[in-house]
Amino acid sequence: MPEALLEIQDLVTSFKTTSGLQRVLDGINLSLRRGEILGLVGESGCGKSITSLSIMRLLPQPYGFIENGKILFNDKELTDLSIPEMESIRGNEISMIFQEPMTALNPVFTIGNQIEEVLDIHQDLKKRDKKEKCIEMLKLVGLPRAKDVYNEYPHQLSGGMRQRVMIAMALSCEPRLLIADEPTTALDVTVQIQILELMKSLQKDMNTSILLITHDLGVIAEMCDRVAVMYLGKIVEETTTVNIFDNPLHPYSQGLLNSRLGNIQKGEKLICIPGMVPTLSDKPQGCFFSPRCSKCIDRCKTDMPELNEVKPGHKVRCWLYVDEDY
Ligand SMILES: Nc1ncnc2c1ncn2[C@@H]1O[C@H](COP(=O)(O)OP(=O)(O)O)[C@@H](O)[C@H]1O
Ligand SMILES: [Mg+2]
Repeated sequence: MPEALLEIQDLVTSFKTTSGLQRVLDGINLSLRRGEILGLVGESGCGKSITSLSIMRLLPQPYGFIENGKILFNDKELTDLSIPEMESIRGNEISMIFQEPMTALNPVFTIGNQIEEVLDIHQDLKKRDKKEKCIEMLKLVGLPRAKDVYNEYPHQLSGGMRQRVMIAMALSCEPRLLIADEPTTALDVTVQIQILELMKSLQKDMNTSILLITHDLGVIAEMCDRVAVMYLGKIVEETTTVNIFDNPLHPYSQGLLNSRLGNIQKGEKLICIPGMVPTLSDKPQGCFFSPRCSKCIDRCKTDMPELNEVKPGHKVRCWLYVDEDY
């Protein structure tokens, strides 16, 4: 088994609020192997983005902080690093692409300027070589008219083109780890497919590990080797992509799969998970999913189950699979 590039252990991330500390991440464990694409999936608000911002040490300040746990990346403990040490890892060994590329691109600089700025930090290239490398990156991500785009400003490009530019920027430093947080959610379906294909082929060519965050199980099916399902700041299931589709164990994972639009026949009713994700200040007793769970038993209402490996390579946090030959 290839060794882990990223190993998150018992990560607790909290926000200081007027009504006290709120645990946004409540003991996350995740591991990502070299060259692997790991999907992180869950409904909006469950803590996916905060997981990526914790890894990057870019939590909203001054109220967001890592309260406990370890983030081991390539044998370094990220939570112990100083700000300058972390800055040298960010955009170098780890880079990130966001849902909305406009937030990551600076409107007043040309695309060329911005990619060259990334190259400057990480490579010592002459001006002409830098421009060449930059145009090469723009071509690599499938941008037509790469030479023109080099001189253009973000607002002159479409959303799909901007997303490609951001991928070009993120990959210019040849990161070991790429964190992609809903990278295609804001795009048309056809552009979405192209961008995903692009990420996949770049991952193959460069052996980059990818943490792919999405609420879309279709994206997971298309892209990921393994998947972790998240609910209210906890991982509830973690296994291979094949297992999650063929044999989902957690009732929440089953609900997510059942409520997929593509999963229903014409005339059939869309099955939803009943109820809403509770707010952080209103977390249920016992298993956080218990109030919405159709398979809830007494124990679920009082005790939180552990994330147990119930079969080789298949972990689930659910009382239904404890002390039982299911
Ligand atoms: N900047 C912020 N300020 C206050 N609360 C936030 C902020 N960002 C996220 N949260 C809260 O943290 C929780 C997890 O959010 P997030 O990680 O963004 O969810 P996801 O990415 O899974 O949709 C949510 O309850 C959200 O309201
Ligand atoms: Mg998010």
